[in-house]
Amino acid sequence: MCGILGMVSKDSFSVRELVSRLQRLEYRGYDSAGCATAEGFLRRKVGSISGFLASLPEDAAPDATTCAAIAHTRWATHGGIAEQNAHPHCAGDVCIVHNGIIENFLELKEELELKGAIFRSETDSEVIAHFLQQYAAEPDLHKGMQDLMERLHGTYAIIALRKGDPRLWVAKKDSPVVLGIVGSGGSASADGYSSYIVSSDIFAFSDLTRKAVFLEDFQYLMIDAKSARLYDRKGKQLPVKPKEFHWESHNGGKMHYEHHMIKEIYEVPDVARNLEESLAGPQAASLSRMISLLRESSRIILLGSGTSYHAALLGRHLLTAAGLDAYAYASTDFDASMARSHDAIIAISQSGETMDLLVTLKAIAARPDRGDIRIMGLVNVPHSSIERMADCCIRVEAGQEVCVAATKSFANQIVALLTLAKAFGFKTTYARLPLAEVIEQAEPVAQEIAPWLASKQSMYIIGAGACYPAAMEMALKIKEVSYIHAEGMLAGELKHGTLALIEKDVPVIAIIPDAKSHTVSSVKEVEARGASSVLVAGADKAELGLKGKALFRVPAGSDAEVSLFAAICGQLIAYYTAKHLDRPIDKPRNLAKSVTVL
Ligand code: F6R
Repeated sequence: MCGILGMVSKDSFSVRELVSRLQRLEYRGYDSAGCATAEGFLRRKVGSISGFLASLPEDAAPDATTCAAIAHTRWATHGGIAEQNAHPHCAGDVCIVHNGIIENFLELKEELELKGAIFRSETDSEVIAHFLQQYAAEPDLHKGMQDLMERLHGTYAIIALRKGDPRLWVAKKDSPVVLGIVGSGGSASADGYSSYIVSSDIFAFSDLTRKAVFLEDFQYLMIDAKSARLYDRKGKQLPVKPKEFHWESHNGGKMHYEHHMIKEIYEVPDVARNLEESLAGPQAASLSRMISLLRESSRIILLGSGTSYHAALLGRHLLTAAGLDAYAYASTDFDASMARSHDAIIAISQSGETMDLLVTLKAIAARPDRGDIRIMGLVNVPHSSIERMADCCIRVEAGQEVCVAATKSFANQIVALLTLAKAFGFKTTYARLPLAEVIEQAEPVAQEIAPWLASKQSMYIIGAGACYPAAMEMALKIKEVSYIHAEGMLAGELKHGTLALIEKDVPVIAIIPDAKSHTVSSVKEVEARGASSVLVAGADKAELGLKGKALFRVPAGSDAEVSLFAAICGQLIAYYTAKHLDRPIDKPRNLAKSVTVL
């Protein structure tokens, strides 16, 4: 959801270097891109960052080298996808980039217009530039930043700069922002480093440094070529405590793969094995702390959004089967007032920054009677907001996911939940999940049926019990990357209305752990009405007694394991169907990774 980037360096750098770095954040939004330098260079453009990069002057252009600059990649909220709405927004000598939503922007806009400000965009963000412009003549922006934080309502990660002043000013509330410090300098401070990179997430600089400072709400930073200083909202200087982080340093390339999505699906077996080893090794203490907190809890509430909500649904099955009192809710369906004393909340999130989830967690944490309600995280990106606020956290260690659609991170969320359930007595079939076999067997079938699925307007994915979350997840994946309507349903619900939509050759993908599953009868019902069934099953067609236009034969196992195998088949079905339709698979229209607005 919008990526912001700021760089300050002892040595000058070109805007091309800045924008190349911005490309590492492109999964956060790809509606438009822009940059501004302290020397007054400003460029904005609708479309991809690579298109933007191609439009920039060569390194030699004197106005395109700088010591301090900001850049932005946009996911539109307020105002259409147009150049005037692209960031940076400038007012006089002040330019800003912003991620978040300013709720009271209309009120501030009216106030600033009365003072003579002329607005050029339809965005909420532009008020920030005009607001700070009032302080442009002062020697610094300390008062401007403090007043800004006093007046803005909403969510923001902001980087501001002034023309002719090689310093960056950064403010945060709710939206993520992190400072990477590059080179060598003061070990316990952020002084004396060779360059400073501020960004929405650590991947922007994880190829250059492992040292970062994670800003908390209502803090602001002043960064110059020699130091980064941190302040609270009243202007009191705070100690800067860089943290060591470990994250992927590669450049986000696809290697020999055509898309990140398929590369990341292929990574599933390796990242799952790494996570199993990590939970038995470096993360064993976090795991046992989570297990003991869960033991002390009366109810377990699993929360997540989108794919992570589907992981929560499967987690509920696993923990319930292990004898625990577990519930799953989509983040927006759970109100903080619903949490009860002795509840354990498990927040599941790849990014650890999803705003729908964060607001609920913050509201729970702020309850005066919070008492012994525990908040736990299951996150992928280290040091994320959810990890920092949780009482304990497990990292799913799937590594950087560049494709907007979640694949390997979902698989590892399930691996972590299986490990938790096992600790409470859940019986798995496999000590080591046969995930490479699942991919190997499913890929040719997905390739074979992709042209047929691609010709359809709609399809149904059905599953029961622990396989229902996989049906939901498969439908979501198909929708987001192929743009074909897909409805994930409880198999038994089909006959209560939706069956009216079943006619000749409508695709119904059914997830069937074994021949005893009730889903078999649901498939018979749709086959009787001419539907073409695709079976994702732990048994053969003959055992199931079904026609099946195609069969994804997955290894037999517990329903939850089959559910994970089916979700991976769904990732491949979605990928090859979208590929057949020539969709922009890694960056589907209208979407962005890490949804940091409500
Ligand atoms: C779908 C997808 C999204 C995310 C959702 C939550 O492929 O990626 O549905 O799962 O936006 O994101 P996280 O897991 O970062 O909280």
